[in-house]
Amino acid sequence: MKAVVCKSYGLPDTLVVEDRPALEAPPGKVVVSVRAASVKFSDTLLIQNKYQNKIDVPFVPGGEVTGVIKAVGAGVERWKVGDRVSAQTGQGGFAEEALADPDKLSSIPDSIDFAGAAGLSNAYGTSYYALIDRGQLKAGETVLILGASGGVGLAAVEIAKIVGAKVIACASTEEKLAVCREHGADHTINYDKEDMRARVKEITGGKGLDVVYDPVGGDYSELALRDMAWGGRFLVIGFAAGPIPKIALNLPLIKGCSIVGVWIGQFSKKEPAKHRANVDQIWKWVAEGKIKPHISGRHPIEKAADALNEIMARKVAGKVVLVNE
Ligand SMILES: NC(=O)c1ccc[n+]([C@@H]2O[C@H](COP(=O)([O-])OP(=O)(O)OC[C@H]3O[C@@H](n4cnc5c(N)ncnc54)[C@H](OP(=O)(O)O)[C@@H]3O)[C@@H](O)[C@H]2O)c1
Repeated sequence: MKAVVCKSYGLPDTLVVEDRPALEAPPGKVVVSVRAASVKFSDTLLIQNKYQNKIDVPFVPGGEVTGVIKAVGAGVERWKVGDRVSAQTGQGGFAEEALADPDKLSSIPDSIDFAGAAGLSNAYGTSYYALIDRGQLKAGETVLILGASGGVGLAAVEIAKIVGAKVIACASTEEKLAVCREHGADHTINYDKEDMRARVKEITGGKGLDVVYDPVGGDYSELALRDMAWGGRFLVIGFAAGPIPKIALNLPLIKGCSIVGVWIGQFSKKEPAKHRANVDQIWKWVAEGKIKPHISGRHPIEKAADALNEIMARKVAGKVVLVNE
């Protein structure tokens, strides 16, 4: 089977495609025949050894896949060969087969294809945990989403609309903003071209933002924080722009707002039952047609570097996935 290997840390073009022996299922594990693998922003950091979690080389990237169970190890009871699943693999997903823990699997509803389901647990799981658990977003409140056409950003747009919030989506091109509107955004701001603060003032009538969802960082974070409403919640998701903002603490004091950290990786480890309930709700919304993942790129696994380069060049709207046809 083919696998994409990070043999030494570096940019995407240093990844190597190898032929490896087919996997067998050890006790307590399953082998998934991978049909689609989610390519994430964090993969671009992991292969460079710049992510908050480190993986020793050599390793096969790919933390989330969808596919069909090919083999079940001794002691695995709930799953059987042939089941359509989504799997949180941690690593190993950029391959034709991947090992997974049975408790990190979810069944995929028939209404969604493998590619559409590939990045769902992480992107929507992050945005669900952020907006609903950490941000306490309520119907009628206004949420501003930075990087709103990205993987977690677009998931946040859809979940905020399900909650009944008013969504202001920010992105860097008209094409990306159009995708946000297609997924329910009420207002859009091109934060590279427009005066974000003036637009927020106009849209909220001067009241400000109840919740900010920030996966971008850089200069945008403080601009958004300065427009918080009294009692607002600023959700720290990530730093896709690169720089990690350093915020003067008089700002949350004056605004009476909270700055709230969000990390799905730790949440899923420390509160697994709650995380599982969130993910189950997300799959229910998929089955009900309330969530429609946007896939802007599908590449064969040999082209994993192209997919990662697209993310680094800000060319992706929604998700980019690797597919094994
Ligand atoms: N806290 C958590 O638990 C958690 C979970 C998942 C992801 N994350 C983090 O959230 C961030 C976004 O992840 P994602 O999967 O949504 O990534 P993504 O799909 O690549 O989206 C990131 C967005 O950031 C914007 N951006 C601004 N400057 C950028 C730059 N220099 N390079 C790339 N993108 C830039 C881009 O939108 P524009 O071009 O419109 O600006 C892009 O759409 C990452 O930092 C990731 O590590 C955190």
